[in-house]
Amino acid sequence: MQNPSKKLGFASTAIHHGYKAEDHQGALVPPIYLTSTFTFPTAEYGGACFAGTEAGHFYTRISNPTLQLLEQRVAALEEGAGAIAFASGMGAITATLWTLLRPGQEILVDKTVYGCTFAFLNHGMAQFGVKVTHVDMGDLQALAEALNERTRVVYFETPANPNMRMVDIAAVAALAKTQGALVVVDNTYCTPYLQKPLKLGADVVVHSATKYFSGHGDVTAGVAVAADAELALQIRLVGLKDMTGAVMSPQDAFLLLRGLKTLALRMDRHCSNAMALARMLAAHPAVERVYFPGLESDRFHALAKRQMRQFGGMLAFELRGGVSAGMRFMNALQMVARAVSLGDAESLAQHPASMTHSTYTPEERAAHGISEGLVRISAGLEDEHDLLADVRQALDTLGAASSAPTPPAAPPAMACSA
Ligand SMILES: Cc1ncc(COP(=O)(O)O)c(C=O)c1O
Repeated sequence: MQNPSKKLGFASTAIHHGYKAEDHQGALVPPIYLTSTFTFPTAEYGGACFAGTEAGHFYTRISNPTLQLLEQRVAALEEGAGAIAFASGMGAITATLWTLLRPGQEILVDKTVYGCTFAFLNHGMAQFGVKVTHVDMGDLQALAEALNERTRVVYFETPANPNMRMVDIAAVAALAKTQGALVVVDNTYCTPYLQKPLKLGADVVVHSATKYFSGHGDVTAGVAVAADAELALQIRLVGLKDMTGAVMSPQDAFLLLRGLKTLALRMDRHCSNAMALARMLAAHPAVERVYFPGLESDRFHALAKRQMRQFGGMLAFELRGGVSAGMRFMNALQMVARAVSLGDAESLAQHPASMTHSTYTPEERAAHGISEGLVRISAGLEDEHDLLADVRQALDTLGAASSAPTPPAAPPAMACSA
């Protein structure tokens, strides 16, 4: 049981925050409130709920006790004032941005972001009168020059999916504040265990909870956390309730509450496996370049040491033979799964140019720093020696394999990414 007089550590908060078994007939594990609607004791009480003068639950698209517990826990872990649960990470991102942006305003977006975020902004919001401008947020001078009176939101991921570029959260937030812009950070790659953007000056953190929060590849979900309670309420009432309706199901909230209990333990293993893989890849002759901030040679190593607790479970690399070597490498993997997504117990390998970032045109990928040959790995929870052995044997096949290049998969008519 939680002791409200004492601030709990990360793992204890992830296990105990916001729940008292004695309020639930002694149930150790929080129950699932599997209901779409809630009865009102009187008609007047129902009206008061709608008017916001009573705080009760009345319809699950707006609030539900199982979702509320998850939201309180994630808000506590991110050290925010309020969180909102969504049906997917894209639900969290789109609902947040629909809430914050109006026609005529501008969003400054880092050079590299997840493929569907890129598509939502450039093919979605841009059609509704919002100006979308990409800026290299590693270049503070460029950011300072791009900020102007129309800028309402500054948006980035760090490390960025898929090329592991990093952004100095505190420096960018301080600069954004000089123009009164709100800072939104996608913290999916790190989770609050590794990095807390709100503590560094960000206003909203968004997550694909599909990834490390779930940790088991069996949930599609998202969460937004705001530093300010009023902003969190706006995202709930505008972005969630009216603009997207992208509500999380209570069963998924239950699975996420279960996943969060082991988040700290799992992140430690993801991080140590990724570090071991990065070192092995960097020393292998088939590998041209590794992108992982834990390597001392990485250009973001100093920033990562300052900003993150550990270096994360994601890495990317280029092989000497480019795209065709990347395809042969992935096809030679025996234990590591060829799959998109990340943060699962299983290690996953994918090719961003033809998969998660196929929403960019080849020209856009070149301009946004996503090379065609890049391979991305999400280090799972397997034994380190098994993971290294599988990746090493796949790399070793490259030297011996036929030099006939395997062409990359043709992009689908309508590019889709995950
Ligand atoms: C960094 C990042 N943000 C957001 C998303 C979108 O999340 P979801 O697939 O849960 O909608 C993803 C998905 O891969 C992601 O990698």
